[in-house]
Amino acid sequence: KTVAIILAGGVGSRLGWETPKQFVKIAGKKVIEHTLDVFETHPLVDEVYVVINPYYYDYFLETILPKYKKITKVLKGGSTRQESSKIGVYAIDDNSVEKVLIHDAVRPLITKDIITNVIKALDVHCAVDVVIPAIDTIVVSDGRTILRIPNRKFLYQGQTPQGFRREVILKAHKLAEDEGFNQATDDCSLVLRYNLCDVHVVSGSVTNVKFTYNVDYYVLDRLFQLRGEYLINENTTKVEIESKLSNLKDKVIV
Ligand code: CTP
Repeated sequence: KTVAIILAGGVGSRLGWETPKQFVKIAGKKVIEHTLDVFETHPLVDEVYVVINPYYYDYFLETILPKYKKITKVLKGGSTRQESSKIGVYAIDDNSVEKVLIHDAVRPLITKDIITNVIKALDVHCAVDVVIPAIDTIVVSDGRTILRIPNRKFLYQGQTPQGFRREVILKAHKLAEDEGFNQATDDCSLVLRYNLCDVHVVSGSVTNVKFTYNVDYYVLDRLFQLRGEYLINENTTKVEIESKLSNLKDKVIV
C-alpha cells in the first residue's frame, strides 16, 4: 500500500497574506484542492493523510474533506514542517503500508508522472527525492560575504513528493526526535543525516512550483491557465504535449 502525506500545516509567513497559502484560490480552486485532486485520482496512491494547520482543522473537515474519498486521516500540524511531517508518519498504523510519499500542499502543479516515478523507484530504492538541476548559481554565504560557490553541475533543487519505504522514514523521525533535531526543511535530509540508506533522485519539473512569494501566485495562475485552456488537460498524451510545446524555446511543462 502507498500513503501520501500532504503537508498543509504552515502559515505562509514569507507570503505574508492573511490566509495561509494552501487555502488561497487560484484558477477556481484552493491550492490544496488542486494538490489533493492529483493524489485522489492517482491509481497508485491508496490513501491520503492531510496534516493541517490547527486553526483551519474544522474548516478543512467541513469544506474540503467531503470532496475526497482517499483521505483517511486529517491530523493537526506542528510548529515546523519537520514536526508536521513526523505527525503524519507516526500516524501510520497500518502494517500493509509499504511506501510513504510526503508532499507540500503548496505545490499544486505536481504531475501524475512525477508521482508515478517516485512510487516506482521505491520498488528498488528505500528513499527517493524529486529534483531539478539548479537554475541559478548557488552561493554559500553567511549573509555578509560569500563563503564558497559550489560547482553548479552537482547542484539540484529539491522538490516534493519525497518517497520512502515506511520503516526508513519512521526511523529517521525517531532518531531526529531522540537527538532533538528539528531544523530539517525536508525529509530526505533526515535519512541522510542518520545515514539510513542512499537517496535516489528522479526528475522533477520547473512547473512543480512551490507557492512561496507573491510572484508565484501569478506564475501559478498563468500555468493553470495554460494547462486548463489550451495547453494540456488530463487526457492530453505526452506526444501531444510535446508537439504543442515544440514551438516554445523553454518548455513550460517538463
Ligand atoms: N508545513 C507544515 N507545517 C508547518 C510548516 C509548514 O505542514 N509547521 C507545510 C506547509 O503548509 C507547506 C510545506 O510544509 O505545504 C512547505 O513549507 P513552506 O513552503 O515553508 O510553507 P510555510 O511554512 O507555510 O511558509 P513560510 O515558510 O513562508 O512560513
